[in-house]
Amino acid sequence: MTDTRHLIGLLLGTEEDWPRAFEEILRRLGPIKGPGGTRHVFDSERITIEPFGLRDRPRHNLVIDRLAYWYYVPREWLKKVALMDGVYLLNSPFTFQSMEKHAAYCAMMRLGLKVPETVLVPYKNPVDNARYAYTAARYNQPFDLDAIARRIGYPLFMKPFDGGAWRGVSQIRNPAELHTAYDQSGEMLMHLQKAIDPYDVFARSLSIGAETMVMRFQPDQPMHRRYAVQHSFLPASAGAEVVTIGRLVNAFFRWELNSCETLVAGGEVYPIDYANACPDLSLTSLHYYFPWAIRALVKWCVFVLVTGRQARLDTDTGRFFEIADTPGASYADKLGAYRELADGYFESARYHDFCAGSLAHVDELVLDWVAGSGFDQLLVDTVRSVYPAHEHDQFIAHLRGLVGQWAADESARLRSG
Ligand SMILES: Nc1ncnc2c1ncn2[C@@H]1O[C@H](COP(=O)(O)OP(=O)(O)OP(=O)(O)O)[C@@H](O)[C@H]1O
Ligand SMILES: [Mg+2]
Repeated sequence: MTDTRHLIGLLLGTEEDWPRAFEEILRRLGPIKGPGGTRHVFDSERITIEPFGLRDRPRHNLVIDRLAYWYYVPREWLKKVALMDGVYLLNSPFTFQSMEKHAAYCAMMRLGLKVPETVLVPYKNPVDNARYAYTAARYNQPFDLDAIARRIGYPLFMKPFDGGAWRGVSQIRNPAELHTAYDQSGEMLMHLQKAIDPYDVFARSLSIGAETMVMRFQPDQPMHRRYAVQHSFLPASAGAEVVTIGRLVNAFFRWELNSCETLVAGGEVYPIDYANACPDLSLTSLHYYFPWAIRALVKWCVFVLVTGRQARLDTDTGRFFEIADTPGASYADKLGAYRELADGYFESARYHDFCAGSLAHVDELVLDWVAGSGFDQLLVDTVRSVYPAHEHDQFIAHLRGLVGQWAADESARLRSG
């Protein structure tokens, strides 16, 4: 029988750690059995940037993109291969371009989620456009920034409508801070958002296809300590709600590699940031959770390619809105219905069956790799590329400890069957 070959393209920027890990696991995978006794093999390739004809045919079957959010050549190539060539992309480039943080807030408010009160305020400085002066003089209404902040209530956050990487985010406790932050916002378009303050825990979830990891996040810690290794840090119901919110956002927007930030206070779950086209996958910050992320990424890509899952470029918002508008339905009822819709979209049951059947050897394979010298070399190389020389020993020991802890937990899990 002939093997079906699948080529996975990686569109990368500065990252080396997770791509090396992904490439290594894929190399070790071997042929995978598909429906009807078919056999499938996988290669990956780092995609280079070059001129492309709009009618050129790409060689890739699936592409993992980490560049398009700031680099427009690959962004436009992704749109072309999604529209013309049926290349499977984990995140729809269309919704990620048009549905930034602001649209994501609107959509999830429309679905009844507890997004904190948010107001968009006009630019502080003139927009660079010859028509602006006339338009603003004629149509921009004066507004009372203090009154808006009082209505929302202090403390609050000011942050760009399309934010990312903490750029331009400030916490605001009083009118003086409000004016300083607004004056500094310059040409950025800003939201004012009510702070969830205090909160009990910050739960950050990372979703990869049909899998979601909910992690306790500590934003005030340095990067390598932000994700705490702590299981069951949420009551079961809040944990399930965090997973549902992440999956709902992703199913709604057609995203399959995204992180979702939620603040949990008094048993309520408040989503505050959930449109991250290029979620953190780095070994130094994910540490304990890194092997899970790589494994989930490999499994999802293989599942997609072997089962012939088609990317959906359309969004089916009506089905979500119908649930939101169901007369008499409680918040819990709606969450249950959203979860069903999202799990259906991600073919969760089929994915887990596929993993249990065709990918049954992968958990052992990843554990072996993490326990071996190749992984340790990756860890050492990564630390050397990220930290100054005098900190290498400290960070190598720190990461070895956390990854070792994962390997021990994973080995116990596999042995217990
Ligand atoms: N409404 C809020 N209540 C409480 N804390 C908030 C709120 N909004 C933002 N924060 C805090 O500010 C941080 C940055 O805000 P946000 O995540 O919206 O911006 P970002 O630019 O996407 O940052 P990042 O790239 O780190 O995710 C959050 O991780 C959180 O700690
Ligand atoms: Mg954020």
